[in-house]
Amino acid sequence: MSDANAIIRTENLHKRFGTNHVLRGIDLSFPEGTTTVILGGSGTGKSVLMKHLIGLLKPDQGRVLVDGENICDLDGTDLTRLRAKFGMVFQSAALFDSMNVLDNVAFPVREHRKDLSEPQIGDLVKEKLALFGLEGIEDKYPADLSGGMRKRVGLARAIIMDPKIVLYDEPTTGLDPITTDYVDESIIRAKEKLKVTSVVISHDIASAFKVADAVAFLFGGQVVAYGSPDEIRRSEHEAVRKFLGTWLRKN
Ligand SMILES: Nc1ncnc2c1ncn2[C@@H]1O[C@H](COP(=O)(O)OP(=O)(O)OP(=O)(O)O)[C@@H](O)[C@H]1O
Ligand SMILES: [Mg+2]
Repeated sequence: MSDANAIIRTENLHKRFGTNHVLRGIDLSFPEGTTTVILGGSGTGKSVLMKHLIGLLKPDQGRVLVDGENICDLDGTDLTRLRAKFGMVFQSAALFDSMNVLDNVAFPVREHRKDLSEPQIGDLVKEKLALFGLEGIEDKYPADLSGGMRKRVGLARAIIMDPKIVLYDEPTTGLDPITTDYVDESIIRAKEKLKVTSVVISHDIASAFKVADAVAFLFGGQVVAYGSPDEIRRSEHEAVRKFLGTWLRKN
């Protein structure tokens, strides 16, 4: 876990909800321009960890450095400024139900780019939707869309500002294999072309190993294994072996 070129770093992160001690000392570095995949069983704190990276949750102990700034200390306009470096795909698509697709995807742009005209915003939205195979749905509302389409609208919104860092919480859950490939390819392309740093939570191990430079395996509130996909495949840790077991036997 080399720290030298980390764009995000967590230090001894602890988070409790009541008596539920979810994060128990997470030290992780996310090097600039790389993709880190977070693996772990359901309820191990993957989403909670990701929300700390963007300052949506504050830790009970420890800190999160983004470009050297402790995001846990920021609020108001300082937090908004730092967050502009991020795009986030939420586990549930988390679209605004009362807004159509255009307004949902345009939301970050309207927040941060007051200089753009409506036609410019419209073109930008169209371009990002097309990346995920969506066309002509700008006037539709989330309730009119299938789960997979909502997910893809969420993906388009996450990258609309061409952020330096993109956090993906289960980006391919509920998507068909072709769209899953689209998403994987877009993560890889963003890294290669734009040096984007990605953090991906995934249950899809094949797709995780395809996009990952590094994998962090969460268990019992801690990172119990960290390394390249090959290193994780060879991990001796019991929880990792169990998690990968079925999949490894098939591949
Ligand atoms: N806002 C909250 N208030 C109280 N408890 C919470 C909150 N958010 C998460 N938790 C608890 O923290 C634990 C970890 O939740 P988290 O959503 O991070 O799991 P996860 O690893 O993302 O699981 P999954 O793979 O099912 O998405 C769970 O026990 C959950 O109930
Ligand atoms: Mg989750």
